[in-house]
Amino acid sequence: MQGNYTKQRLSMKIVVIQGPNLNMLGVREQQIYGPMKLEQIHAQMKDFADKNNMEIEFFQSNLEGEIVDKIQECYGEAQGIIINAAAYTHTSIAIRDAISAVSIPTIEVHISNIHRREEFRKTNMIAPVCTSSIVGFGPFGYHLAMLGMSQIMQEIQAMQAQQAAAQPQA
Ligand code: DQA
Repeated sequence: MQGNYTKQRLSMKIVVIQGPNLNMLGVREQQIYGPMKLEQIHAQMKDFADKNNMEIEFFQSNLEGEIVDKIQECYGEAQGIIINAAAYTHTSIAIRDAISAVSIPTIEVHISNIHRREEFRKTNMIAPVCTSSIVGFGPFGYHLAMLGMSQIMQEIQAMQAQQAAAQPQA
C-alpha cells in the first residue's frame, strides 16, 4: 500500500510553456536576462524532473494563439503548468482566460523583476489566475518553480489520499 501510494504521489506531468523571444535567451539583453540559453534552462529542469520522477514537456512559441492552444491541450493531460508568457504577460486576456479555463495549478516565472522595470511591465494579466509567481531570480526561478510545483502536487495528492481514506468502505 505504501509503495503504491508513493508511486501515485510522484507520478505527474508538468508542461513548461515559454512565450515570445525566450528562444533568444543567451543572445537578447544579457544585462537583464543573463547568458544562459533556453536549452540549458530546460536541461536543468529535465534533470530535476528525472530525479523526482516527474514527466516534463517543453514548448516555446512566439505566437499568442499557439500558446492558448498549448494551454488547452494541457487539460486532462498535465497536472501542472509552468509558464513564462514573456511580453504577453502584460497584454494577453486570451492567455489569462486559457489558464483560468483549464484550472490546472500554474506557476508563472519571470527571469527579470518585472516590478522594477518599465511601467508597462507592471500590468500583469496572468498573475491573478496563477497559483503563484516567481520573479527576479534569473534562470534560477525555473528551478524554484519546479520545487514549488512538486510541493503543490504533494499537497494535492496528500489531500486526495486523505479524502480516499475517509470514504466509507463498500
Ligand atoms: C520576461 C519579462 C517580460 O516583461 C518580457 O517581455 C520578457 C521576459 C522575464 O522573464 O523577465 O520577454 O517575462
